[in-house]
Amino acid sequence: MSKRFYLTTAIDYVNGAPHLGHAYEKVVADVIARFHRSIGDSVFFLTGLDEHGQKVQLAAQQEGQSPQLYCDTLANQWSAFVDRLNLSHDDFVRTTQPRHSCVVQALLHQLNDAGHFYKAAYTGFYSVKEETFLTEKDRNPDGTWDARWGQVNELIEENWYFRMGVHQQWLLQHIETHPDFIQPDYRRNEVLGFLRSQVLGDLCITRPESRLSWGIPLPFDPGFVTYVWFDALVNYFSVPASLGDSQATGPLGARYPVRPTSLEVWPADIHFVGKDILKFHAVYWPIMLHTLRAALPKTILVHGWWQKDGQKLSKSTGNVVDPLSVIDEWGVDAFRYYMTRELGIGPDGNWTDDSFKARYNSELANGLGNLLNRAVNMLNKYRAGIVPLPTPTLASEVQTSVESTRLAYLRHDPQEALIATWTLVNRANLFVEQTRPFTLAKDPSKASELNDVLYNLIEVCRILAVLIWPVMPTIAVKIYDQLKASGEPSNWQNSAWGGLTEGHQIGEPLPLFPRKDLPPKK
Ligand code: ME8
Ligand code: MG
Repeated sequence: MSKRFYLTTAIDYVNGAPHLGHAYEKVVADVIARFHRSIGDSVFFLTGLDEHGQKVQLAAQQEGQSPQLYCDTLANQWSAFVDRLNLSHDDFVRTTQPRHSCVVQALLHQLNDAGHFYKAAYTGFYSVKEETFLTEKDRNPDGTWDARWGQVNELIEENWYFRMGVHQQWLLQHIETHPDFIQPDYRRNEVLGFLRSQVLGDLCITRPESRLSWGIPLPFDPGFVTYVWFDALVNYFSVPASLGDSQATGPLGARYPVRPTSLEVWPADIHFVGKDILKFHAVYWPIMLHTLRAALPKTILVHGWWQKDGQKLSKSTGNVVDPLSVIDEWGVDAFRYYMTRELGIGPDGNWTDDSFKARYNSELANGLGNLLNRAVNMLNKYRAGIVPLPTPTLASEVQTSVESTRLAYLRHDPQEALIATWTLVNRANLFVEQTRPFTLAKDPSKASELNDVLYNLIEVCRILAVLIWPVMPTIAVKIYDQLKASGEPSNWQNSAWGGLTEGHQIGEPLPLFPRKDLPPKK
């Protein structure tokens, strides 16, 4: 067996319902995963839930439920959510699963045995209301504590710490010598800037059970649970380990019970995460893996944040977009298209209902939908739905668009891939205007010219189905169905020119993207 292309998303906190930001990350990751499937890579796409820690414990308390029951209920809602997004994920991890917690514990043992941890007492100011330690930076200018912290106590607390600082130079060098390790470049530069200018402190990896009980018990010192981020990051590793990937089981040592299989998943090819959790992924996680003597991920790919109407998404102000109601109204493929097309991987994005409708109408309904509709209609009307003799009039232009689309996907730039694909949509619509097949049809001496136009249009539509499959898999299949094309749009090889052959009978036209702004025709 060969190494799987391993792609992960952040695992979401189960302290509320999924929102637009969560949907974006999962959809774009799925687009990348599906592209790699279509070029024949054996993909392993992992997503899931982060169920431990203060936020979740607090949310459960507020619902008057035990944390486990609370997580189980929400986990159903979240896994239904990823189904509605039509993700092609291979596994769904929950950090409360024993297959995960036993890896976290084996890893803690390994690193403790190797001397990477120490126990120390910390004296600091603690906000009970916010359940967090405060620093001098949190004080008001006059030295008092703000009312939002509630009562602030001076507290002495013992915890376990991870010696991070000693690995700072190693990490800096790794990032400097591996330009693809953090992408886009400006995120890489952020991390480099931090590592060059600041001293990396040690990381507190436990919480006393008396203060926070909802976590994975520290295997070598009862009374402590594992800090939620140490626990959560390990999900990327625990799933391959639990499946017997020797790149993951090996470093865990003799205590880890799972026997190796022939599966090859680790290291990750892409960890896809939001900008707010960059430091955890680009600093702590590589050092954890380095000390474990495990291979490092190839790329940490960092996306921006969505706003709505120029404001932060916020449940309390009601400034939210419910991905499920958009999907109900417009279809999952249109939602996936908008997410991918509107916001490239890197900058922040802004949802407006108007821009969603504008893209739906111009690029989907009038662009792709209308092209297919015209091509299928005219072939039915003028040639009884029978494909004429293939001619390569648009073949080289198609080839160029296919190649730009492919290269953009390979660079993990699905927005650019869609832009490249839509140059072909627009080209083909322009081809109709230029060749005027409805006029050619009136003149019997133009029959072979008309054949040429009809063949090129219908063949472009077939190829477009292959190009859009990673983003709009159900629409792609609908196009193939209308054309009664053989094979699958899920296979990139089918983007080669000439798939439709002379004499092939296509099907009836059906609109791909119903128009929403007009009353339905009677
Ligand atoms: O951070 N726009 O979970 P989380 C775009 N459990 N992306 C957004 C967003 C927005 N408005 N809001 C959140 C956690 N995200 C941890 C991760 S990984 C080992 C542990 C993204 O539910 C966010 O950047 O707060 C992150 O990548 C993901 O949603 C989960 O956020
Ligand atoms: Mg968050």
